[in-house]
Amino acid sequence: EDFTAFLQALPKCEHHMHLEGALTPEVLFQLAAKNHTTFPSDDPAFTSPATLKERYNHFTSLDDFLHYYYIGMEALVTSSDFEALACDYFQHAAADGVAHAEVFFDPQAHLSRGITYDTVLSGFMAARHRAKTEFGITSELICCFLRHLPASNSLQTFALPSVQASFHNKQVIGIGLDSSELDFPPELFKDIYTDAEKLGLKRTAHAGEEGPASYIQTALSTLRTQRIDHGIRLIEDPSLLHQIATAKILLTVCPYSNVLLRCATSIASLPIRHFLSAGVQFSINSDDPAYFGGHYILDNYLAVQDAFHLSLDEWATICRAGISGSWCCEARKVVLL
Ligand code: HPA
Ligand code: ZN
Repeated sequence: EDFTAFLQALPKCEHHMHLEGALTPEVLFQLAAKNHTTFPSDDPAFTSPATLKERYNHFTSLDDFLHYYYIGMEALVTSSDFEALACDYFQHAAADGVAHAEVFFDPQAHLSRGITYDTVLSGFMAARHRAKTEFGITSELICCFLRHLPASNSLQTFALPSVQASFHNKQVIGIGLDSSELDFPPELFKDIYTDAEKLGLKRTAHAGEEGPASYIQTALSTLRTQRIDHGIRLIEDPSLLHQIATAKILLTVCPYSNVLLRCATSIASLPIRHFLSAGVQFSINSDDPAYFGGHYILDNYLAVQDAFHLSLDEWATICRAGISGSWCCEARKVVLL
């Protein structure tokens, strides 16, 4: 049976995609030419968009991917660059049948290059407005902090007046934690999460992607996150798995990402059936679609269907979990449910 039309038509919510991860090799080369950005001269992958795309098929780890991810974003300079980047994502999201998207961005990776927070934010806000009017897609922004940098850098960024203003006016509704995971446990970032909770911000963190299940535990207990990004290593801790199912914590699973970054050997090896039978809520997401084979959200849904042959009822369960676990207003949830 062909599930493509059915999965396309489901009112999907995306909770785990990094807008900087929507930068395709083609757009990267175009923007680099426009902005006079130079690439590392000692890496032949930067010969052309085609050679770069080929290199992206052979990531060996999260850090190997992140190396290219941070070089790529150096081509993003003006507010219109950020707007075009996000518009490119929203166009794919519309074609894939996304109803609501909660997307990440990495301000520290831009501030460190002299790009202001307001340059980044104004571009993304313009794109969100177009996504709503042109495609009916609702969206929210989540500001991520980079765990490979000192926590003091995250705290300084969090405290910037422009960042605080974006929380206050709800242009940014929550915070996340991303970048290299191993050796950077969640508890290093306790202070920011405490402040974020005081401000009434939503909280999530990448945990249990490359790192151990204990990082999922400390993200929940120390950072008091309401979601966990990835979380696939949760199966290594049955009692924590039971706790997460009971608390209805949403995991944002990214199938192609996990395989292409070698966090899983295949999509069939992901604990999807395990999560379903244990009542663990999860959504299916694209993470960094331009870096992971050009696989946007619908490809991830289709790959899960190919691997697990889920029933219509099981898809309804997954879809409802994604809507309930979203951070949009209650009225939007009722419409989507
Ligand atoms: N993990 C950690 N950091 C990231 C990711 C990811 O999947 N994507 C972009 N930054
Ligand atoms: Zn991610």
